[in-house]
Amino acid sequence: MLDVKTFHMDSFIPMPYEEALAPRLKLAQEKLQKGNGAGGEFTGWVHLPRDHDKEEYARIKAAAAKIRGNSGALVVIGIGGSYLGARGVVECLQSPNYNLKKKDGPNIYFVGNGLSSDAMGDVMDLVDGVDFSVNVISKSGTTTEPAVAFRFFRKLLEERYGREGARERIFATTDCRRGALKALADSEKWETFVVPDDIGGRYSVLTAVGLLPIAAAGVDIDGLMHGAMVMMERCAVSGYECPAWRYAAARYQLYRDGKSVEILGCFDPAFRMMAEWWKQLFGESEGKEDKGLFPASADFTADLHSMGQYIQQGKRLMFETVVRFGPSARQFSVAPDEGNGDGLNFLAGRSMDFIRDKAAEGTLLAHTEGGVPNLIVEAGERNAESLGQLIYFFEYACGLSGYLLDVNPFDQPGVEAYKQNMFALLGKPGYEDRRSELEAKLAR
Ligand code: PA5
Repeated sequence: MLDVKTFHMDSFIPMPYEEALAPRLKLAQEKLQKGNGAGGEFTGWVHLPRDHDKEEYARIKAAAAKIRGNSGALVVIGIGGSYLGARGVVECLQSPNYNLKKKDGPNIYFVGNGLSSDAMGDVMDLVDGVDFSVNVISKSGTTTEPAVAFRFFRKLLEERYGREGARERIFATTDCRRGALKALADSEKWETFVVPDDIGGRYSVLTAVGLLPIAAAGVDIDGLMHGAMVMMERCAVSGYECPAWRYAAARYQLYRDGKSVEILGCFDPAFRMMAEWWKQLFGESEGKEDKGLFPASADFTADLHSMGQYIQQGKRLMFETVVRFGPSARQFSVAPDEGNGDGLNFLAGRSMDFIRDKAAEGTLLAHTEGGVPNLIVEAGERNAESLGQLIYFFEYACGLSGYLLDVNPFDQPGVEAYKQNMFALLGKPGYEDRRSELEAKLAR
């Protein structure tokens, strides 16, 4: 059962804070549960584990089975909330090396999450001679990066299988009514899945947005949804028995006491893309109106040999939240060596998990002694059930945190600035005046 431990940050906080923050958390809780706070029209994810569309859920499973049956690769096209969760879960539960492993399911390639021609070309090469399907994901249906990538991969599919054959291999996840992708999908009769109106991109991993690619990779989505449901029930209770309250209160208090960066760390490299998902979740939800913790991540122990120096002795602006998983699925122990040339016999008989756990304890003590408060999220065994709990926990804590900060945790107005400039510079009709203005600035 997921738990949050705050012992290693309490000494950094001058006054008890939980009692003082409880009334504000209670208000934030009501806003999430009733959907009547800022951005309340985007709180559909709060009851999603219970209220999701069961007919669509069955179609997701059927589509995943079809892809697993007829494709050696699934190309997943999307960016931001239409990308990070699926990749995070696949890598966390199946392995960052999933595509290199022997398996019954398809390789999963993610494209449309940037504008690199070379990155896209690599995936085109990888599907050359391989039967593949495409899942194009965009809630708005108009985001440039995935739309451009989809043009290329749709053409590849149609050249390979014809328009009829491609129809069997294109799955579009988008709004149920609006957007260019929805219109295209309807006219081409591709199978579509819905991003519900009341769920924004970064809270959508447990909708078809995440579930279709995750199921196609062979992950147990029933376990994931069940874990989320368990956490949904724990978070429905107002009070500090809800782990999201403990996490939201602790990080908010650290922020008020002057911390400006939160580093999400984990001693399991399979978690790296989940940390990227978490960064988007908190960064887009809190970073507005000149407020918010900057969400960073660290991959331990690798980053102890790079960012570890800064964390230990650099500017004292951060705290760490460390996600800990329980015993690994595969156990390896260090064998004794007669010559002991490497001097490692003191570890003979010790498991990799034991060594990892001692490294984690040593790091915790070093960092807290170096002035970096630590929060610990005990996530349990690394499996679908626990990850479902962890995802919902972070989403709920993020909603609470946004309301504690007095911002709308469900919009992202700042994302528009680069888009407007890009459209103008690319010559999109309607942006002519802005284009001349921007080109003049660039020519300086
Ligand atoms: O959280 C969000 O809403 C954004 O990060 C979106 O997910 C991202 O911009 C992609 O948008 P769309 O799914 O409309 O293509």
